[in-house]
This record gives sequence, structure tokens and C-alpha cells, in this order.
Amino acid sequence: MDYRDLVCAAIDQLRNSYAPYSHYHVAAALLAEDGRVFCGVNIENAAYTPTICAERTAFFKAVSEGVRDFRAIAIVGADDAYLRACDFRPDTLPGYSPPCGICRQVMREFCDPASFDIILAVSPDQRKVFKLEQLLPESFGPENLEGVH
Ligand code: THU
Repeated sequence: MDYRDLVCAAIDQLRNSYAPYSHYHVAAALLAEDGRVFCGVNIENAAYTPTICAERTAFFKAVSEGVRDFRAIAIVGADDAYLRACDFRPDTLPGYSPPCGICRQVMREFCDPASFDIILAVSPDQRKVFKLEQLLPESFGPENLEGVH
């Protein structure tokens, strides 16, 4: 699957985002090394803190299915009013939706910072691609705990 298709997969999922409190919908499509795609959306909660981001939903779906090797993630987001106005079929989105710090750290657990691609998009053909190490420099990861007992 190419990055254009990955963005399309994410945009298709925006309708599944559950965001009655922030009114901001996020969707992610995570491409595994074996070619499988795991999608996720943000899922909010009346108690606020149980809310989970789209990126972590995608990662936790994949990891809980036994998949731990990943190539890239596409992320899109937009506010409720904008998406409703186009019946969740946007040609373009109003802005890029970068991953929060906690989601970057979850990516760091399973992905090579030098090669894992984070794709931000406002449409299938308008994309910005970053390596994880660009968005999470000098990061702390599993290697930092190697040899510690
Ligand atoms: N959100 C994500 O899904 N991913 C991010 O990386 C940033 C924020 C969600 C959480 C919340 O439901 C809404 O966006 C507003 O913060």
C-alpha cells in the first residue's frame, strides 16, 4: 500500500471517531511491515482522562493482534462541524493533525526512530512526511533499559 492509499484509509475512518466533548475527530492508519493496515480513531469519555488518541488505538489494535513491526502511520483530523458539513467525505481538511507527545512515545516503543514514517495529510495528495526521530528527538526507548535488572 502506498502513502496515498494509507491517507485515504485514515480519512475513511474519521466517521468512526467518538469525540462528543472536544468535537475534534482524529483517525490514523498504521502500516505494518507485512502490509497489513490497522486503523484507529480517538475515543473520548465523559470522565475525560480515559480518552484515547487515534494513533494509540491503531497501535494497540495491531500489537494486541500480535503485530509489532511497522513502516508508517498516516494521521488526519478535523473538527466536527467541518466534517458534518461534507458528510464525512472531505476533499481537503482544514489543517494538519500532528501526534501528541504520548502517542510519539508509544510509536518509539515499537518503531525504529530513523526509519518509521509519520505522514500528516490534509488530503490524499497533500502530505508531509517526518521520521519519528524528527518529531521525537533524543528519545528514551527500550534500549535504554537493556541490561537493567
Ligand atoms: N487526539 C488524537 O486522537 N491524537 C493526537 O495525537 C492528538 C489528540 C484526540 C484526543 C481528543 O479526543 C481530541 O483529539 C482533542 O484533543
